Amino acid sequence: MSGETQGKRKFSRRDFLGLATIWAAVISGFTVLAGVFRMTKANVYYEDSKKFKIGKPEEFPIGTVKQLDEKRVFIFASNDGLHAITSVCTHLGCIVAATDWGFQCPCHGSQFNSDGKVIAGPAPRPLPWLEVSRHVDGNLMVDASKEVKPGTKVKIYL
Ligand code: FES
Repeated sequence: MSGETQGKRKFSRRDFLGLATIWAAVISGFTVLAGVFRMTKANVYYEDSKKFKIGKPEEFPIGTVKQLDEKRVFIFASNDGLHAITSVCTHLGCIVAATDWGFQCPCHGSQFNSDGKVIAGPAPRPLPWLEVSRHVDGNLMVDASKEVKPGTKVKIYL
């Protein structure tokens, strides 16, 4: 070996491959770690619960109809009890409006009688009646995921 090559070492092909291997291992390790951390977060879509409180019974005096816009439901209070009917049209999901004779959909003209039964328009099904129950804290609850038979009312007035 000459004096020149002893003091100044050349970067050989073997050195290059060694460094490339180390860097490939480091990058692979970080990629795996990133994947592991990503897996700890659930990949789910959160939405509001279908079961919600609507208030105390005294907030629904006999003879009243309340439309809860954000919950998309009508609450009817009568001598027979209280019931809930969805305000979502069964055609394409528009919000129906209450009328003197029942419900009218503003989108394509479906009409429903006061029990939610289709009387005109393209809606394929009646407006579902929803389960109403009383929570342990005294509030009334509607479960929009549970349909009940039309005519089902909850007795809340003694
Ligand atoms: S969405 Fe109600 S009639 Fe079409």
